[in-house]
Amino acid sequence: MNKIVIRGGNKLSGRVQVSGAKNSALPLLCATLLAGGEHRLSNVPQLRDIKTVLQLLEILGAKVESDGDTVAINADKVASVEAPYDLVKTMRASVLVLGPLVARLGHARVSLPGGCAIGARPIDLHLKGLAAMGAEISLDHGYVEARAEKLHGATIYFDTPTVGGTENLMMAATLAEGTTVLENAACEPEIVDLATALNAMGAKVSGAGTDTVTIEGVEALQPMDYRVMADRIEAGTFMVAAAITAGDVLVSGAEADCLEAVISKLREAGAEVELDDDGVRVKGPDEISPLQIKTSPHPGFPTDMQAQFMAMLTLANGTSVIAENVFENRFMHVCELQRLGSNIRIDGKQAIVEGVDQLLGAPVMATDLRASASLVLAGLAADNTTEVSRIYHLDRGYERLEEKLLALGADIRRVQVD
Ligand code: EPZ
Repeated sequence: MNKIVIRGGNKLSGRVQVSGAKNSALPLLCATLLAGGEHRLSNVPQLRDIKTVLQLLEILGAKVESDGDTVAINADKVASVEAPYDLVKTMRASVLVLGPLVARLGHARVSLPGGCAIGARPIDLHLKGLAAMGAEISLDHGYVEARAEKLHGATIYFDTPTVGGTENLMMAATLAEGTTVLENAACEPEIVDLATALNAMGAKVSGAGTDTVTIEGVEALQPMDYRVMADRIEAGTFMVAAAITAGDVLVSGAEADCLEAVISKLREAGAEVELDDDGVRVKGPDEISPLQIKTSPHPGFPTDMQAQFMAMLTLANGTSVIAENVFENRFMHVCELQRLGSNIRIDGKQAIVEGVDQLLGAPVMATDLRASASLVLAGLAADNTTEVSRIYHLDRGYERLEEKLLALGADIRRVQVD
């Protein structure tokens, strides 16, 4: 296992290029199962989770060739409809093959993803939607089986906006008989990216990015040639890195219109945020102001940025309150931040963060993807040395994070540990 060693105190400065969005590339790769022929995706981030979904596509019978950030996929022959437990347990987004497989082949057998560090993360809404479209759903020894001669359109209301559920059913509906309406749908930018790619394949999706998405089924789809959108969460993470180190960083490729809540909160914390054609420039404040943050589905404050902001707010000149309203257990980074000398108290869904003058470097342990980013950010500002272990969590969602931070002036390195 590797660890990342950071000597804190350097102000970051310079330009960093954002990679393609993990949470858009994953559903886009699953969408290739909807059509035979040669798909081509560019700006695909080189991450562990991406490798995992490419392995899954190969297990299902697709031909996969990747070259840097470009991936070619030929899904002419989908020989299997089973997404195995060993793979799904390492990457729950594998459930996004469910909709495409049932839509194109009439059958899917996908391992239930099981629990996750940040919460139960059930897929009941995915399954309820597929059943409404005529799929027969059964549970069999930890697997969900979905069968349908031909899916038909339906009007589906999501009890809670679900990104994966909206994506799975949007993909399934593209080949269904008739029209499907998804109500109370998730509005995340990655949904819009997927809808744009599906329409480029010949689908008829409208309303993506709003809470009502309408999909008119078509007979067949063509392969896509598509460039993945920039990763707004990676961009937001670098913006917080500039803020927490009182640095001056241009986050190139950041799409400001996907980051409104994050930009607004950074400005409220005292950072200067300038938008230009190349991306977003953040100048960190000498003094960080405390914030009230409530995570909620897009366009609200993204839950995927909660841990990163908490790292910054441990150094604010006052008390911040952070409410995590999307996942039930997404405060795993609190104990580790406390090891660095922060003053945080959890009260139900809220974390009360009393700012301290200085974080003190120490060994800490990553528990999930965004928690690991939070610990790296805290290490950038802590005195002496911070060592973040179990960084395989980090590598799931950040491409060469330590190299990008090093180029911005951080004193950071990855160390091989047996
Ligand atoms: C996506 O997960 C992202 N992952 C997550 O990013 C992100 O945190 C999340 O959306 C919310 O924005 C990918 O896109 C691969 P949800 P997803 O379904 O689709 C409940 C990261 O750090 N729910 O929108 O799994 C669920 O328990 C990751 O990059 C049901 O109850 O999230 C949660 O409380 C972490 N039943 C809430 O909805 C369902 O059938 C939102 O989950 C589905 C979801």
